[in-house]
This record gives sequence, C-alpha cells and structure tokens, in this order.
Amino acid sequence: MNQEFRFYPEQASSYAGSYDALFAFLVGVSIFFSILICALVIGFAIKYRRRPHVTHIHPEGGNYLMLEIGWSIVPFVLSMIMFAWGAIVYLEMKTPPEHYDEIYVIGKQWMWKIQHPEGKREINELHLPVGRPVQLKMISEDVIHSFFVPEFRAKMDVLPGRYTTMWFEPTKVGTYKLFCTEYCGTSHSEMIGKVHVMEPSAYAAWLANDTGEPAQVAGERLFEQYKCVTCHKLNGEGKGPSLAGLSGKVRPLKNGSTVVADDDYIRESIYYPNAKVLTGYQPVMAAYPKDAPSEDEIRQIIAYINSLPAGQQPAAEKPDTGKPEPDAN
Ligand code: CUA
Repeated sequence: MNQEFRFYPEQASSYAGSYDALFAFLVGVSIFFSILICALVIGFAIKYRRRPHVTHIHPEGGNYLMLEIGWSIVPFVLSMIMFAWGAIVYLEMKTPPEHYDEIYVIGKQWMWKIQHPEGKREINELHLPVGRPVQLKMISEDVIHSFFVPEFRAKMDVLPGRYTTMWFEPTKVGTYKLFCTEYCGTSHSEMIGKVHVMEPSAYAAWLANDTGEPAQVAGERLFEQYKCVTCHKLNGEGKGPSLAGLSGKVRPLKNGSTVVADDDYIRESIYYPNAKVLTGYQPVMAAYPKDAPSEDEIRQIIAYINSLPAGQQPAAEKPDTGKPEPDAN
C-alpha cells in the first residue's frame, strides 16, 4: 500500500471527491477564522495594553450598527453554505443509484460476516468489482458496530434489531482497510478486515470459484423448515396472510394504522408476530425464540419472501371474520 504522507486517505469511491471538497471548505473556514481571531486578540492586546497615556473613554461616533450587521450576516451566510453543501453531499451519499448489487453484512462480536447476492460468503473480507455500485444491508447480532472504509468515505452504524444500509461505488482497484468504528467490547480493535476492489474479470473469476447458495434458495428451505409455509400459503388460503408480492406493499393493520412491508417489518413479524397484526387476521402466530432463526436465517427468509411474485389474492381484502381481539400493540 502507498506509504507516502498524505493529509487524506486515498479517494476510492464515487463520492469521495465531493466529501473531501466539503471537508476542505470546513477546515479552510475554520483555519481562516482561527488565524483572524488569534491575530486580533494579540493585536488588540498589544495596541490597547495598559499604559499611562491611554484613556479608556468610549469614543463618540463610529458605525457600530454596520459592525453588528456585518458580524451577524457573514457567519449566517457561511453557515447556510455549510448547511446546503452538507445536505447535498449527504443526499448523494444516502441515495443509491437505480441499479446496484445488494450485499448483506452481519456484524457480531468480533467479526464481519458478508454474503454476496450470488450466495458466496466471506468473513472479514469483502471482494468487489471496480465501477459497480453496491449497497450493503447490515444488521448486528449483538451490540452496535459501525462499518467504515476510510478510502470510500463510507461509514454506517450496524445496529441490533434494525437493518441499516450504505451504498458506494468503488472507483479504484486496490485493497483497503475495513474498520469497526463503534466500541463494541474487548476485541473491538480486532474487528477489522479488508476490502478488495478488483477488475471485473478478476472479480468474476473469484466469484465463479465456489459461488455458494443464494440467500433466497436457502430462505425457501428455511421457510419450510420453520413451518412458516403451514399458515402462510401462497394462495392466501392459510391461517396467515399470503406473503406473495409482499415486499414494499402498504399493509393495513388491525389497530387502524398501516405499515410498509419492508425488511424491518418482516423481521419484526417473525420475532414479534403480535407487534403488528394485519387487519382480518388473528394474532395466533407464536413468536420464535431470539436465537432460532438466527439473524442470518431471518435474512435468508426475507430474501425468499422478497423474491415471491405477487399472488392471486391480496391478503388485505379478506373479510374480518374474527371477534374483537385484545389490542396487539
Ligand atoms: Cu464492532 Cu467495534
């Protein structure tokens, strides 16, 4: 790796340049005002130091109004520039392009478990092709971790109980360090890894050697293994709603509110089935214990559910045949 002294890590993702430009502006403004204020403090201290012939009478006149307006307007304009510029860069970093590869990341004390869309798995290593945007979908099995690749200027917390995402497009072939940047216990400092950005042909060759099982294939098997299929029949005739075409749908709930069926909702409904009960259904599903299915299995089940095409019968239009239930949160 490059050993020369540098102020910044290498710029190796599509938005690293805009990030650095904003950062340079913030540092520049800070340096300018630090020097200005320091110089004035020292200058005034010398000029107005205590001497026998200096009077301390307040001089008449002087345009104090303009001075007040000046030191209000200048910081206001500067901070608004920082706000707008920061918002633009933030949106760029938060908004993935239309097409990207989704890579799953599970953080746990103290390692990174990674799975590619084709099914290949890695631990503490991430291989990527150059010039193709990826989005990481991340969750933690225990405490809060944080996924950080300095050269990509990409950092996102990895939380227990909630999926977080982060996208970037690697623009330079090379090997970069991956850090956990949230103190997560004894071996936090060892929760590091490597990101290998490869030429597309080298990446394809790497991937072709043992692709592994795609998440939705494993998910389908787990869907049967955990007996989900007994009640969630795809034709909508089971005790539970059909999950066909569920992904992204607005789901009307028993308590009168609605929820968008995203991955967090599906995950919650597996671990806490009564948290959000669909209108027209009874809270009859038993909660699974927290360790089985594991986060990894949950993710595969979700991948399977998300891969299901829309079914014949929208679950929400089934008549409510049940008696009133105690409020299920
Ligand atoms: Cu994981 Cu620090």
